[in-house]
Amino acid sequence: MCGIVGYIGKRDVVSVLLKGLTNLEYRGYDSAGMALQDCGEIKIYKTLGKLVNLKNELENKKSELKHPSSGIGHIRWATHGSPSLVNAHPHTCSCGKLVVVHNGIIENYKELREELIKKGCVFRSQTDTETIAHLVADEYANTKNLEEAVRNSVKKLQGAYAVCVIHKDAPDIIVGARKHAPMLVGIGDGENFIASDTPAIIEYTKRTIYLDDNEIAVISQNSVKVTDINGHEVIKKVETLPWEPVALSKLGFKHFMLKEIYEQSDVIRNLLNGKLYDIDECVKLDEVKIDKEILKNLNKIEIIACGTSLHAALAGKYIIEDFAGISVEVEASSEYIYRKTTTNASTLVIGVSQSGETADTITAIKQAKAKNSHVLIITNRPDSNMARLADSLIPVNAGIEVSVAATKSYTAQLISFYLLAIHLAEIKGSMEKSYLKNIKHELIQLPSKIEEILSNTSNIKECARKYSSYKNFIYIARGINLATAYEGALKLKEISYINATGYPAGELKHGPIAMLDETMPVLSILMPGGITYEKVLSNSEEAKARNAKLIALTSSDDKNIDALFDVVIRIPKISEILSPALTCVPLQLLAYYIAEFLGKDVDQPRNLAKSVTVE
Ligand code: G6P
Repeated sequence: MCGIVGYIGKRDVVSVLLKGLTNLEYRGYDSAGMALQDCGEIKIYKTLGKLVNLKNELENKKSELKHPSSGIGHIRWATHGSPSLVNAHPHTCSCGKLVVVHNGIIENYKELREELIKKGCVFRSQTDTETIAHLVADEYANTKNLEEAVRNSVKKLQGAYAVCVIHKDAPDIIVGARKHAPMLVGIGDGENFIASDTPAIIEYTKRTIYLDDNEIAVISQNSVKVTDINGHEVIKKVETLPWEPVALSKLGFKHFMLKEIYEQSDVIRNLLNGKLYDIDECVKLDEVKIDKEILKNLNKIEIIACGTSLHAALAGKYIIEDFAGISVEVEASSEYIYRKTTTNASTLVIGVSQSGETADTITAIKQAKAKNSHVLIITNRPDSNMARLADSLIPVNAGIEVSVAATKSYTAQLISFYLLAIHLAEIKGSMEKSYLKNIKHELIQLPSKIEEILSNTSNIKECARKYSSYKNFIYIARGINLATAYEGALKLKEISYINATGYPAGELKHGPIAMLDETMPVLSILMPGGITYEKVLSNSEEAKARNAKLIALTSSDDKNIDALFDVVIRIPKISEILSPALTCVPLQLLAYYIAEFLGKDVDQPRNLAKSVTVE
């Protein structure tokens, strides 16, 4: 949700800010803007829509700029106020000397706005952010010190903010502050950066300071100072970023999403490496720091997540209950936080999140921690806020995921659940050793099976071509692949804007079947040899009887379905419990190719953002 980058130093400020914003564009693309300190003047540029428009605007207006020495940039995912030019950041105070960019939501902005209007401030936008600009300017009028003015102002803000402020009369500094929204400082030699996320600065420095809630950073060309809300200096740890800039390249693929789909076999190899070497040895999950005796007697796990991570969590429930016999509840974080949960000190709470920044999940995790539960976080971002809250952490190590639609992080989350469930089963002795050996054997084979799927996608492409003009889809499955049905349908919705819904196959006849006719393809996920196979087949027959077009996703050994289905997509043979790690791949590709045929913006679908940092 919104991306911020600030830079002060000797490089070409416009290029650094544009590069940073490019790498943050996954956070929003409703509008883009930049404010530059340029030889005693502040110059502001804003455009609607994607960052490319701002790039073009700046290219056209290059001659207006003398020699910018610092600046702040923003890309917006609209919350308060429509995506319009007037609502685009940066926002200024009435006289235009003070400029602000912001990520988050200021909950008490209406009250503050009324007070400031009474004081004579002139508001131009409908945003909550503009309130911050006027508020800090009001404080600055008294203090003449930007850091103090920001500190006094943020004390009055309720809600979430990562905010960067510059002032015409303080051209040598950028002030940043955060609460419940991510912000970090990048440290260079004779230059410094401030940003919402690491991709914004990775091209220039790997040395980073992560700001904590209620901290204020003042960066100049040669210094970085962090203080708390009371003005006391905080000595921060300088960390080294693990990412390489190459992670942000498409490496010849047309879209990041396709590249990320193709990376999945390596992602799994990576994740298994060091944790599962030999089928005769126990899974090594040193990351789980709970006493073995406590794990042995654990009788309840709660998993909290949003979006695609929630679907991985649902698969995780089936896997843990199957292997370890522990009861698992799965809930959307946004629901968990608004009910009286039974979470207590003997509950293991697992938070799943690609970004580690999803606001609802962070709030839910904090609530669970307040009830003294052990919190295990499964995330792709060990440098995230959520990871910092973890008692135990499983980093899924999928590498930076750029495309808004999650793919490789989903697979990595699934694999983490298999490893965790085996680990629990080995501690509890809840499964036959021979069964677990087979599972481990299959896990080790997964990467090559994914490569087999990816080596020939013509059938999936053909299916996409055939059905790309249909307006509604239903995905059905039973058991562990229900999560796949939900996730496959979500992928299609997200990037092609086609209405697709996942249903438990047995529920089809309890309502959704009323919608079926020849305009509604039904995609059935079947696993020969699995306990749900026959039933999903019968449910597919029921759909056929209502003239629905039928697509099967099944394994290579399924011999008797060609007559029933219009299209059959096959994956290599695999046991039902492990199949979600393979069945997700053709569905990611199907969504990708349909969106491609429809000419949609695959990596940056409308209205979405990859990192949802507001509740
Ligand atoms: C957004 C993204 C989804 C993602 C969800 C949860 O909605 O567009 O792709 O699944 O957030 O994000 P998280 O980072 O917590 O997994």
